[in-house]
Amino acid sequence: MKVAVLGAAGGIGQALALLLKLQLPAGTHLALYDIAPVTPGVAVDVSHIPTAVKAVGFSGEDPTPALEGANLVLISAGVARKPGMDRSDLFNINAGIVRNLIEKVAAVCPNACVGIITNPVNTTVAIAAEVLKKAGVYDKRKLFGVTTLDVIRSETFVAELKGKDVAKTKVPVIGGHSGVTILPLLSQAHEEDKIEFSADEIDALTKRIQNAGTEVVEAKAGGGSATLSMAQAAARFGVSVLKGLTGEKTVEYAYVEGNGEYARFFAQPVVLGLNGVEELLPIGELSTYEKAAIDAMIPTLKADIELGEKFVNG
Ligand code: NAD
Ligand code: LMR
Repeated sequence: MKVAVLGAAGGIGQALALLLKLQLPAGTHLALYDIAPVTPGVAVDVSHIPTAVKAVGFSGEDPTPALEGANLVLISAGVARKPGMDRSDLFNINAGIVRNLIEKVAAVCPNACVGIITNPVNTTVAIAAEVLKKAGVYDKRKLFGVTTLDVIRSETFVAELKGKDVAKTKVPVIGGHSGVTILPLLSQAHEEDKIEFSADEIDALTKRIQNAGTEVVEAKAGGGSATLSMAQAAARFGVSVLKGLTGEKTVEYAYVEGNGEYARFFAQPVVLGLNGVEELLPIGELSTYEKAAIDAMIPTLKADIELGEKFVNG
């Protein structure tokens, strides 16, 4: 198996390179690509860690050598937020970066699974889908917006608040990856048993999870957004996709093109298998609060998706 990271010299990319070097199965090839000239050095650096994962780095304008033979491509190339910005403020720069990189994916490794980390994810995934479609290689089972960070944050915050074992705490998160489109399903949160919340706790926790990215952006005070927690989230997601591709089914929440019940792309539980998404799992029973939150997010989510579609198709 071969995993390519595009944006590998960045805050997420370098941490992700480290975690993948440590967490990928023995024998996996790890290709690190970024326009920044430091990237081959990042690969040399991680290659001194004694695991059986072979890391190679590439820089410059052309990601082709990193993409050749890739089974999974993780994309974190692009700019990150500063205080006062929304994720949608990143569209002007990141839309073009994602489009150009996906054009290369379509040409070089059209059968690879692709996980998009670059914001605004609600829109960049739609851009990627349309570029792949134009190239005649779109397979909706293989394109993912990486929303695992919302899941790991929810599990951390819930376990902290309720004094639970974080390793056993599970919290589904559905919808998209910005503000009101991020919806933790606290009515389904469980450790050994279902976790109960008061109405005030549900409201406060939901808002904290929706604003957790901003919490990091403000705490970093102009130094960027979440990188370390995101890298762990992407490593977990990447390892799960690879497990699926090698025949071991896993379940993750991800922003995928599903059955369109709520929006064309929607973060939901999926079974990962030999061809990416093998099965869409039901999101389960929702509370009245969660049903209202879905109704409230749909216009934003649909507009975000349409922006991406129009960016490619005019
Ligand atoms: P960063 O600025 O530290 O790194 C970005 C890297 O992308 C840089 O090394 C830069 O050289 C590289 N890059 C820019 N254009 C490129 C191109 N055309 N080809 C290859 N590389 C290119 O930023 P970061 O903190 O790593 O964040 C990256 C992106 O991830 C941002 O858009 C951020 O908003 C997003 N993000 C998403 C999530 C999520 O949950 N999905 C979480 C955190 C951050
Ligand atoms: C996050 O959720 O931390 C990322 O999407 C980065 C951001 O801009 O908030």
